[in-house]
Parts: sequence; C-alpha cells; structure tokens
Amino acid sequence: MSKQSDAYIPALRYSWLTSIYDPVVRWTTRESTFKSALLAQADIQPGEKILDLGCGTATLTIAIKVACAEADVVGLDGDPKILEIAAKKAADVGVKISLDQGYSYELPYADNTFHRVVSSLFFHHLTTANKRRTLAEVERVLTPGGEFHLADWGKAQNIIMRGVFFIVQFLDGFETTTANVQGRLPAMIEDAGFQDVRKTAEFATPLGTISILSTKKSGP
Ligand SMILES: C[S@@+](CC[C@H](N)C(=O)[O-])C[C@H]1O[C@@H](n2cnc3c(N)ncnc32)[C@H](O)[C@@H]1O
Repeated sequence: MSKQSDAYIPALRYSWLTSIYDPVVRWTTRESTFKSALLAQADIQPGEKILDLGCGTATLTIAIKVACAEADVVGLDGDPKILEIAAKKAADVGVKISLDQGYSYELPYADNTFHRVVSSLFFHHLTTANKRRTLAEVERVLTPGGEFHLADWGKAQNIIMRGVFFIVQFLDGFETTTANVQGRLPAMIEDAGFQDVRKTAEFATPLGTISILSTKKSGP
C-alpha cells in the first residue's frame, strides 16, 4: 500500500482534530438529515455488498448495516486513527462491518465487487486528478449496473451558502474544494463513464450546500 501523499487531507484537516470530528459534523452539516436521505436513496437490499468510501468514523457505514443487517458492508478510509474510532463505534453499537485501510485511488478490491458504493463528505478531500483516479476506481469495483450514491459539498444555492463555504475552503484548502463549489462533480462523474448522473437533493447547511448525487455503472 502506498503511503499518505502530501495531498492527503484528514477528516478535519489536522490529525489532532480527528477526535472531535463527530460532534463538529453533527452540529455543522445537518448530518442526520442528509445521511438519512443518502441512505434512503441507496435503497440497499439483503445480500448486497456495499462500500462506504472515505468512511471516516463510520457513522454512515454503521447506519447502512443497522438499516439492512443482511447486507455485507465495508468501510474504507486512508487514516488508521479515524478507523480506530470507527471500530470502537461499531463495537459499541454491536454491528459487524468490515473496516479497511486504503486509498480511494488504488482500491484494494477486485473488479465488479460491490453492488453499491456510497460516499459522504469525501470527494472535497481530493485534488482534481485524484477525484478522476478515484472515480475510475469506483467504476472498476462496481458490478455492471451497480450504483454510486454520494453526498458532498456542491454548487452553492445562493450567495449566503457561497459565503459560509469559505470556512470549509480555508480549513480543507482551495485546491480540493473549488471543483465542488463550482458544481463540477456531476460532469467529472460523467467523464468517468458513469450513466444517468443526477442531482437528487440539496441541503442548505451552516457551512454551505450539500448535494446528493446518484449514478450507475453501465451494464444490465
Ligand atoms: C470529512 S471526512 C468524511 C467521513 C465520513 N464519510 C462522513 O461522512 O462523516 C473525509 C474522510 O476521507 C478520508 N480520506 C481523505 N482522502 C482519502 C483517500 N484518498 N482515500 C481514502 N480516504 C481518504 C479522511 O481520512 C477522512 O476520514
């Protein structure tokens, strides 16, 4: 496995902030509202294999397993420290999920492994080049016709949403967040060969607009 690159951004930019990630996200992103919408949209069925990409503390990964106990749920993140928090949360809730350390642009899975890939607040951590490499990897590990559902910072709905998003940009950096706030993620997903790319919802939050997208890999 390659080591963390300079472009790697931990959950709250600095590793020493990782331990307060959950309360910060809970209070600044309308987390339960947008993650519930993402989960409902993904419509996960028993027997399916699901990847939560950039799972962080595994709030969404655990929610998926709670919603569908018969799904095989895997969370992947590059940061071993946040995966320790994730593992403890899963143990506390008593759910069995797999947690893998790895990087989104070189996923440690075979082609056509997952029926669904989900991702939340993750793509704005990647440079444009790594967004493209990651999308190619998501396409590779999805089964034919498999679906990709993601929530992340999107095109600001209005000038207030644009203004507050500068807080995220100062924290996480302009290089990785600009494509998000310019609304360029859907076109990048299309460029990666996905079909039927849709923005299904958007949420005004204290830190900017969160968009939910859905798409699928070509196939039956
Ligand atoms: C803002 S957090 C989001 C966590 C979680 N998905 C959520 O919704 O709360 C972004 C996560 O992406 C991880 N990350 C950043 N770059 C990554 C990469 N290239 N591959 C895998 N994980 C990465 C970070 O370690 C961090 O846990």
